[in-house]
Amino acid sequence: MSILSGKHILLGVTGSIAGYKAADLASKLAQAGAQVDVILTGAGQKFITPLTLQSVTGRRAYTDDDLWGNEAHVLHVSFGKTADLLVIAPCTANTIAKLAHGIADNLLTVTALAATCPILIAPAMDGGMFDHPATQENLSTLLSRGVLVAGPASGHLASGLSGKGRMVEPAEIFGHIRLALGKNGKLAGKKVVVTAGGTQEAIDPVRVITNHSSGKQGYALAQAALDSGADVCLITAPTALTPPVGARVVNVSSVQQMLEAVLAESADALIMAAAAADFRPAQIAKDKLKKRDGIPQVQLKAAPDILKTVAGSGADAKRFKVVVGFAAESQSLLENAAEKLKSKKLDFIVANDISADDAGFAVETNRATLLFADGLREAMPLMTKTEVAEKIIEHISKLLE
Ligand code: PMT
Repeated sequence: MSILSGKHILLGVTGSIAGYKAADLASKLAQAGAQVDVILTGAGQKFITPLTLQSVTGRRAYTDDDLWGNEAHVLHVSFGKTADLLVIAPCTANTIAKLAHGIADNLLTVTALAATCPILIAPAMDGGMFDHPATQENLSTLLSRGVLVAGPASGHLASGLSGKGRMVEPAEIFGHIRLALGKNGKLAGKKVVVTAGGTQEAIDPVRVITNHSSGKQGYALAQAALDSGADVCLITAPTALTPPVGARVVNVSSVQQMLEAVLAESADALIMAAAAADFRPAQIAKDKLKKRDGIPQVQLKAAPDILKTVAGSGADAKRFKVVVGFAAESQSLLENAAEKLKSKKLDFIVANDISADDAGFAVETNRATLLFADGLREAMPLMTKTEVAEKIIEHISKLLE
């Protein structure tokens, strides 16, 4: 994950049962290439040990003992100056209160006061504590200072009660971290619309015609755009995927709904990674077709071509400065892609051979060739869909310069 590689993340862990999840978050960050320095409060150590955390980060974990150690006078300052982001997960009501009031009575809060980097907190406490006016006032103080807040979620709490106060899952905190680190990326201030997944064209209330698109390539594009600081709208057909944190999600199912959702947007770039239907049932049966009535003959008719509709929506109503399409082909890949590049008036098209077993639908990798409107071509080797997405985002940011 290029956005995290080489980044210095400070991870504060305070005294909540959710502390055990800090190991998972620390592991995700380390595996993504970040340098993670953990700071455990005294209460935090009640729930998870420094040894556990340093085992996943490969770096020593710091505690209040280090506050009074011989390097103490520089530790919090050096941390505060070198970190790209200070994450406090879980973040208790007590630590929220200390941050709000500038209390600095342990290594974590001293570091927070010295930090010049952004701060992201993931609150974790019992429901009643989160709703308490004191906590709410402290949170709004932090928000007013630009502190980023992930969650909390509502759900089962350690006390057996359920309510708002549960720390969001590490994967979601990870998404917020990417969002924070990507803020000033090359697409900062730009808006990108991405479509993903395979549309579903109804035959009757129960049955649809669809395709094998899993949405992976589209979701990777949305994540890569977020990593570059873009404001992202993800228009998605049904998938089994979790949308990237920070994307505004518009759920659609049919190609008609996708068309309407695309036309409702205007943005710096549109990336049509979705497998939208080319044809659909001529009519949708009002009731479920019954076997006893014999084998139904399903007549098909043309579906609206979203990219052609966008292209035809007139230069004046230029909804999208840059338009990128995909070509999913099983034969004469480049010829078909070149034809679509022209007929859909694209800035460039991503040609991918969906007959290969390591590219195209549902797999983690893709093999794509980019064909540009000016005739240039860029054949890319097999790579992950994340890497393909990052390449596409790079080209889009160049075209928007
Ligand atoms: O989702 P995954 O499992 O990760 O698989 C990724 C993918 C193979 C779906 C993706 O890489 C891809 O190729 N998406 C485009 C699939 C497709 O519909 O290609 P096409 O050649 O049929 O369409 C050409 C272009 O026109 C595409 O940008 C498509 O979004 C667009 N289109 C298609 C139909 C339609 N009615 N309107 C459109 O705008």
